[in-house]
Amino acid sequence: MTTEEIIARGVPEHVAIIMDGNGRWAKKRGLPRTAGHKEGLTSAKKIVAAAAKLGIKYVTLYTFSTENWKRAQEEVGYLMGLIKGHLRAEFEFYKKNGIRVEHIGNIDGLPEDVKSEIINAKKDTEHFTGTTCVLAINYGSRDEIVRGVKKIIASGTGADSVTEDLISQSLDIPSLPPVDLMIRTGGEERLSNFLLWQCAYAEFIFTDTLWPDYNEEEFFDDVAKYQQRNRRFGAVPNQ
Ligand code: IPE
Ligand code: IPE
Ligand code: MG
Repeated sequence: MTTEEIIARGVPEHVAIIMDGNGRWAKKRGLPRTAGHKEGLTSAKKIVAAAAKLGIKYVTLYTFSTENWKRAQEEVGYLMGLIKGHLRAEFEFYKKNGIRVEHIGNIDGLPEDVKSEIINAKKDTEHFTGTTCVLAINYGSRDEIVRGVKKIIASGTGADSVTEDLISQSLDIPSLPPVDLMIRTGGEERLSNFLLWQCAYAEFIFTDTLWPDYNEEEFFDDVAKYQQRNRRFGAVPNQ
């Protein structure tokens, strides 16, 4: 299908991606896991640009989870360096594609230099009006919900005022819409603590493709697959 045909059929407003399989991609080639992460970053840029081309409003990328601190110090250090270097160097990429950078996750748990690059990238791109690229860094959905509940309690809200909307508003980006399409590469079929609340009615696509091999063509195919899904939200259509 052409880009125009996909756009004409209506694209999802919010696509979330679990970019998995970097380590296995590297292992298959006899390379260190870090080489997979480097290649994974190239994939991420391609897919964000592809999403911008389709006019998708939000793309949320699972970049580093609250559980990923369990990995070897060398790998964690490499990932932090990659994130920091990318944000520092890629303003032109975001500008060219009209992409606004946002962040979800526990920013205070990140090294100071990574934290300040996130803050700067958000600030530098805040006036861009195309796709919003939400980077989930030091992100865990349960952690986000716990921090949200703490904000609600600290504001003195009474039990009767707690609503689904209020909980959504308490999350890291209050205006972030629910996920329409969740894609996970790398063959595992689980959420790994990603956007649990926001995925209540998401459509899921799991692919065996390892993240560094995932490309625009497969992404467009996945969006086209999503467009064939029948979303009922619990109702019986045409009744
Ligand atoms: C995903 O790839 C990237 C991050 C979690 C940062 P992995 O590093 O999990 O790759 P596999 O799953 O070991 O192949
Ligand atoms: C999920 O992948 C986290 C990211 C892609 C950042 P993992 O590789 O960490 O997930 P598990 O451990 O297989 O569940
Ligand atoms: Mg993995």
